[in-house]
Amino acid sequence: MTAISNTIEKSDIIVSGVQSTGTLHIGNYYGAVKNYVDLANRIDNPMYFFIADLHSLTSHPDTKDLMNSRYLTLAIYLGCGLDPEKATIYYQSDVYYTHELYLYLNVFANLGELERTATFKDKVQKQSENVNAGLLTYPVLMAADILIHKGTKVPVGKDQAQHLEMTRTFGNRFNHYYNQSFFKEPLAYTLTDQLIHIPSLAGKGKMSKSDDPSTAIYLIDSDEDIEKKIKRAVTDTGPKEANSPLTEEMKNLFDIMQLFCAKDVVNDYLNAYADCTIRYGDMKKQLAQDTISTLAPIRENIERYLGNKKLLQEIAYAGADKANQSAKQTLEEVRDIMGLTTKNINLSLS
Ligand code: TRP
Repeated sequence: MTAISNTIEKSDIIVSGVQSTGTLHIGNYYGAVKNYVDLANRIDNPMYFFIADLHSLTSHPDTKDLMNSRYLTLAIYLGCGLDPEKATIYYQSDVYYTHELYLYLNVFANLGELERTATFKDKVQKQSENVNAGLLTYPVLMAADILIHKGTKVPVGKDQAQHLEMTRTFGNRFNHYYNQSFFKEPLAYTLTDQLIHIPSLAGKGKMSKSDDPSTAIYLIDSDEDIEKKIKRAVTDTGPKEANSPLTEEMKNLFDIMQLFCAKDVVNDYLNAYADCTIRYGDMKKQLAQDTISTLAPIRENIERYLGNKKLLQEIAYAGADKANQSAKQTLEEVRDIMGLTTKNINLSLS
């Protein structure tokens, strides 16, 4: 069962991040960043949105790529409209307290459950030459990211739901072991009743940075790239009988269409599928046109930020400063609870 919430209480603390490997696609946008922007514009709760550069170490990026992609991710957050005055935006690696909490939480994670995590199993297949322990404990670092700010609501896409479940488990085990009710249970947050799932253009599976780049639409793709990718998106060979159910490929393409096209346009194409008059070429042309008109202004904004290195650096410093204040407080409490404190030490050994 996925624990999802679509309400925010006054006491909620919001935390989320996106792994900065490569660049972000529309799955990251609709699953995560767009929700951050909406929240920051709508409510005054404390919110922490970071760039998960440490998580990307689990796939051993080139040193230069690591810096470039986290910089690009920051420009994307800002270009999508996230306001650093309203939300604390920072690089995960700038908050060392998280790394320490990661170590403590590791002892509450069991090998078996880590091995059964869907994203881990997926990586074992895709990255079989590099199945490192960082990949295995990826969900523990995620738990540390959230719990370090005592996060209670986590805007994420569907692919992260299992990680959140594990965050609750680790936090509960910590509480139980130390006989405390210290960590609250964080819930996935979405405005609708369902966590967003953005399919790949390959016809099956979710849109993913680690798949062939032609199967994902990136926020910095040019108009021509977008058009080309949509044109090549996998479809079926066309409905054979009236009122056939949508095949997986077509359901996925229609799901993407819902994001960018007006409802009546989508319905027209659904009806055309049902009565077998649909022309996939036309559908794709329409989809490409509407996708471009949504994404082009966002891309232009991102490009503007990319050209302003100094501003980005200032934002990252200020964000790290604020995030460290909150993280330090939590970590000092955690050390106290665990007995890892020199405050009341009794050095008489007799
Ligand atoms: N795993 C997330 C992704 O792939 C990124 C992430 C890291 C995250 N830590 C998190 C998301 C904590 C939410 C909360 O994009």
